Amino acid sequence: MALRNTSAEFGSIAKWLHWLIAAGILLLIYLGLEQAAMERGPEKLAARETHGAIALIVFVLMTIRLVWRWVNAVPAHPAETPAWQRISATLVHWGLYIAVFVQLISGPITVATGGRSIPFFGLFSISLPVAENEDDHHLWEEVHEFAWTIVALLLVVHVLAALYNHFIAKNDVLRRMTTGARRGD
Ligand code: HEM
Ligand code: HEM
Repeated sequence: MALRNTSAEFGSIAKWLHWLIAAGILLLIYLGLEQAAMERGPEKLAARETHGAIALIVFVLMTIRLVWRWVNAVPAHPAETPAWQRISATLVHWGLYIAVFVQLISGPITVATGGRSIPFFGLFSISLPVAENEDDHHLWEEVHEFAWTIVALLLVVHVLAALYNHFIAKNDVLRRMTTGARRGD
């Protein structure tokens, strides 16, 4: 399988990035909500720190993904795809990129305005050059608590669209992000 994308399908690098990031984001939503339900204390702080450290990995993968997308061909839609589906696919994909980056940026700013640094599994710790400030902390926390619902909402539409393409339109859209497009279609 080719490393790079072609006009017919995603290459293995784009596929790996897509599925690793997808797993990472689902895990982050789960860990974020789980820590939110915990009582204040050292365990909650540790859960937040694990959430933040995993999110740093997703941040790096997302940045690589955007660069990789930029230097690669993007597979064309199947010829029979109606215009409204092409437009909604573009809107949902870019909506996901933007909403995920809003999460990835609002999270660290929430931590920094709360006067903390972001430890990475005890290996190193990142201190952002952002002043501690109670009002800013609450504002960014609210952004972070809101934007994940947009990620989740877009994700539901995205998954339904993938399933629609595979089972109803019976095209290669899901295959070209997984096992590979059928030859000769
Ligand atoms: C949090 C999880 C996910 C995120 C953030 C995400 C995001 C994206 C984005 C941004 C693209 C566009 C790729 C590009 O053109 O650069 C894409 C493509 C795709 N995703 Fe996801 N995705 C997620 C989960 C899933 C899941 C669970 C499925 C399957 C059920 C899926 C199926 C696909 C397929 C089939 C494509 C290719 C669409 C095409 O060829 O036009 N994704 N995804
Ligand atoms: C795609 C990336 C991310 C997703 C999907 C995500 C998801 C979530 C969710 C669902 C919550 C619970 C919100 C609630 O209580 O309603 C949360 C809380 C939190 N996240 Fe994230 N997060 C991401 C990135 C980050 C990053 C990069 C950091 C910092 C390094 C971070 C730090 C926090 C903190 C400190 C909280 C607790 C504050 C709060 O309740 O808002 N997150 N996150």
